[in-house]
Amino acid sequence: MSKNVLIGITGGIAAYKSLYLIRLFVKNGYDVKVMATEHAMQFVTPLSIETLSKHELYTDMFSPAIHRTTEHISLAQWADVCVVAPATANIIGKIAHGIADDAVSTTCMALKNPLFIAPAMNEQMLHNAAVEDNLSLLKQRGVHVIDSQAGFLACNAYGDGRMAEPEDIFHAVHAFMQQKLFPQRSGIKAMVSAGGTQEAIDAVRYIGNRSSGLMGFALAEALADQGIEVDLVTAPTHLTIQHPLVHRIDVESAEQMLQACTSSARQADIVIMSAAVADYTPVKKYEHKLKKQSQNLTIELMPTVDILKTLSLNRAKKQWVVGFALETDNELENARKKMNTKQLDMIVLNSLNDKGAGFSTHTNKVLVLDADGGVVDIPLQSKAAVATEIVKHIFEKLNLNAHE
Ligand code: CTP
Repeated sequence: MSKNVLIGITGGIAAYKSLYLIRLFVKNGYDVKVMATEHAMQFVTPLSIETLSKHELYTDMFSPAIHRTTEHISLAQWADVCVVAPATANIIGKIAHGIADDAVSTTCMALKNPLFIAPAMNEQMLHNAAVEDNLSLLKQRGVHVIDSQAGFLACNAYGDGRMAEPEDIFHAVHAFMQQKLFPQRSGIKAMVSAGGTQEAIDAVRYIGNRSSGLMGFALAEALADQGIEVDLVTAPTHLTIQHPLVHRIDVESAEQMLQACTSSARQADIVIMSAAVADYTPVKKYEHKLKKQSQNLTIELMPTVDILKTLSLNRAKKQWVVGFALETDNELENARKKMNTKQLDMIVLNSLNDKGAGFSTHTNKVLVLDADGGVVDIPLQSKAAVATEIVKHIFEKLNLNAHE
């Protein structure tokens, strides 16, 4: 989903903080473009802005380098959200009264998506009747004003008018965008498991597998993008996830995963077990590190609980349960058998025989089998795209409308 943020910088000393604001948006996955007034260029340089945003700065509406005079329209249409920070008394006055005579004011006039402004000026200026009236006019029109704070001002006085900190500006805009992009569907919850469990042998060693967790993380994100609250129960992985609707629960062993999944699944309407759960675990787990010996070492293993089967057979409520199958021989037949014995609604068949599919790759190719006999072939593509397709298919089965 696109997250394009347009930052407008105007001519105030707080402009130096806008560089950090650009960084915050970029770091959090936004595509950032910047426009600035000529006065802003007295405080920050195009080189810093362009290096941080990775895009050309827009400041001169008639620059021969642009080769067209409609850049303000293109930028305004590109932006999912626009943030003017710092917003001087001048730009606030211009936006409030429909004056468009530079790159920032003209682009703001052409915006179709929400506008945030972060005023920054001397206290006397902020409480000037004209500025106060302009700010309340903008608020009435739906412009989001991120209030300035009291603090030390550049004019060496203590007072109102200091621009909100970049983190606060970022969080205000980010929270708004998350709600806009991922409106929560009330009442639908999911539980997704991911990664490969680790079964301790001793204090430092474990039995593990090659699962990266990518598919489970992609599924959690795809469900959350549809407004579903997700509990993501994950075995150890280097992956991170930043989504307001995803609640991550870290576990290590199959036993811990069983406990966490059982507890999360109680509230879930959709359960997806994509984790590679160890089928066996050492009978004895040594608390200290085992010392090297000259003779053979035997580790006795005992079977773990089949989490998927346990969840599926003990469903407390009407629930859609999806399993994964990783097969090398008689793939379809074995997957169907798994679906039947574990009484699943759906099984996603991964094949280790396909190039670019399976563990530790960023791409995958799967067959989705339904309990009613349906088969959907999802061709080789990124795991994120495969996850989106799987979620779409689950939605069809549950008669839910998916957001595009
Ligand atoms: N699974 C589970 N608990 C286990 C083992 C597997 O919940 N202890 C789940 C996996 O998350 C997956 C499904 O069962 O969704 C199938 O896993 P797979 O390894 O393909 O099959 P197994 O049932 O373990 O059988 P086998 O290894 O013999 O193919």
